[in-house]
Amino acid sequence: MRHIMAKSLAPTDGVRDYLAAQEKKSLLRFLTCGSVDDGKSTLIGRLLSDTKQIFEDQLAALERDSRKHGTTGDDIDFALLVDGLEAEREQGITIDVAYRFFATPKRKFIVADTPGHEQYTRNMATGASTADLAIVLIDARQGVLPQTRRHSIIASLLGIRHIVLAVNKIDLVGFDQAIFERITEAYGQFSRDLGFQTIVPIPMSARYGDNVTGRSDSMEWYSGPTLIEHLETVSVEEAVVELPFRFPVQYVNRPNLDFRGFAGTIASGSVAPGDEVVVAKSGKSSRVKRIVSYGGDLAQAAAGQAVTLVLDDEVEISRGNMLVSPAARPQVADQFAANIVWFDEHALLPGRSYILRTETDQSSATVTDLKYRINVNDFAHEAAKSLEMNEVGICNISTRTPIAFDPFAENRTTGAFILIDRISNATVGAGMILHSLRRAENIHWQSLDVGKRVRADMKNQRPAVFWFTGLSGSGKSTIANLFEKKLFATGRHTYILDGDNVRHGLNRDLGFTDADRVENIRRVAEVARLMADAGLIVIVSFISPFSAERRMARELMADGEFIEVFVDTPFEECARRDPKGLYARALNGEIKNFTGVDSPYEAPEKPEIHLKTLGKSAEQMVDALEHWLNERDIAEDQYDNGGGI
Ligand code: ADX
Repeated sequence: MRHIMAKSLAPTDGVRDYLAAQEKKSLLRFLTCGSVDDGKSTLIGRLLSDTKQIFEDQLAALERDSRKHGTTGDDIDFALLVDGLEAEREQGITIDVAYRFFATPKRKFIVADTPGHEQYTRNMATGASTADLAIVLIDARQGVLPQTRRHSIIASLLGIRHIVLAVNKIDLVGFDQAIFERITEAYGQFSRDLGFQTIVPIPMSARYGDNVTGRSDSMEWYSGPTLIEHLETVSVEEAVVELPFRFPVQYVNRPNLDFRGFAGTIASGSVAPGDEVVVAKSGKSSRVKRIVSYGGDLAQAAAGQAVTLVLDDEVEISRGNMLVSPAARPQVADQFAANIVWFDEHALLPGRSYILRTETDQSSATVTDLKYRINVNDFAHEAAKSLEMNEVGICNISTRTPIAFDPFAENRTTGAFILIDRISNATVGAGMILHSLRRAENIHWQSLDVGKRVRADMKNQRPAVFWFTGLSGSGKSTIANLFEKKLFATGRHTYILDGDNVRHGLNRDLGFTDADRVENIRRVAEVARLMADAGLIVIVSFISPFSAERRMARELMADGEFIEVFVDTPFEECARRDPKGLYARALNGEIKNFTGVDSPYEAPEKPEIHLKTLGKSAEQMVDALEHWLNERDIAEDQYDNGGGI
């Protein structure tokens, strides 16, 4: 601490000048990677308390010098915090991360404090997404551990280019230079290909403050900077202002009929009235008429500023779109390759539908191809069918609607996304876009003259997908079979997709792991969609045990077309009937991953039709289904006539 006081600003014109100087100081955002045992909390605690001390000493000195101290240092701190973190809070991703603010006479700092053991990767990735630098904490007694490597890889993926290798607890190894050098060497080897621009190793004892804010007396051999000296001087300028203009639109600001502006925070570049801008997805262009901010109109605004842009003419821009520079437009695609860091205890399953959220946009998305998992110890590319918690992988992603983005390497804001679980709403992964897939550019929808409506009209029916879900042996196939017979007899055009049958052909390559079941349902849902498009009434009879995939199937179909039918037969009854003898074998342990035994069944919460089969005949069940279908068709006819078509 002493060396900082020595370098402190000389009080000039009192507090006002001092505060003005504070505002001009640059800001460094960093995070600490390591577990509690490595001394993470101790280090953050020490930084906060030592620098607070510095601040207080200095303010006290200033107060003596000046009578006009209207504001306090705290006011600035607070404004700055609120300012910078608003966007993240809106994204809803600051789950457990606490941001702490402190300052020295030279710089202001925000440190992302990322607690938690279980969800550590998630918190760390959240903190890292906005950080300029990471302090990788190493316990001098332990050296470089797998978690050190994992955290470093995640930091690298998230675009961090500056590392402090904090070799902590050096006092516990007798301030031994050889140990420090061995760790530095090992880390240097490992991180060679991670793209870090600076790696500064510092031997320290967070506990006693050695080389944190004050120089250690016990390490004559160390001539490098203390932690705070380095944090105060390291240059991390990414020059986001120099990048092409990107303005993700958060919302349309229309307080009255005379005013219409687009509100958001400039992600990169700068803008001035008169500049031409383009709507990323539609390509429509306009000019900036005014830049409105809380303090009045601006002559220019740059990355990091929250503003409302008023344009020359009334272009359509929905939420989720971006205003961009016409000279350098982002990519717009619905298929791209990305790096994924997985946080959730439920594995990432290719084919499962997640919500992908970028800075402003959102779409359903699936991993279409998990190319490989990265081994965090040796960077080996390993074949993988799923990504488990804390794993990192490279994959292809497909979104329902196109999104606008830049490769992450070019823009950390517009190239990043998070994945959200559709059922729990939890953030389950973070992604960094590598590039769009050329095949997406080369495959276009062929517009066909004979459409779904005329195909269905010709059959004199409305398409429908009756989606039967229930345990094996619950009676799905029996009821489906009888239902189709009835429909057929009344002149309807139908088709049954049955799990056992489809698994003999199209899905012959799939087994019963979670990953395979997800793919099983994805394929059959796509087939059902094509059949509905052909105008058919489709009956799908699959266990389909996971809510997420049933929801995915629902979203593939047109509104009202997907009818979830829960064939609800209790496990005990299915096991008693055991038509194929599978329950007996599963309960004996001869069959693995059997639904209801050692693989879960997630019952529908709000099925359109709930068939409780106990004590009922298949005929009774089918009557209920027919009744439902007739009611729907009558209702739709009325709607059509009422609509005057
Ligand atoms: S799903 O879970 O992927 O939807 P699907 O309906 O295609 O399952 O196939 C289920 C049928 O496969 C069952 O009716 C049963 O005959 C057979 N089967 C074989 N092994 C299993 C298993 N481990 N779990 C469930 N069904 C199995």
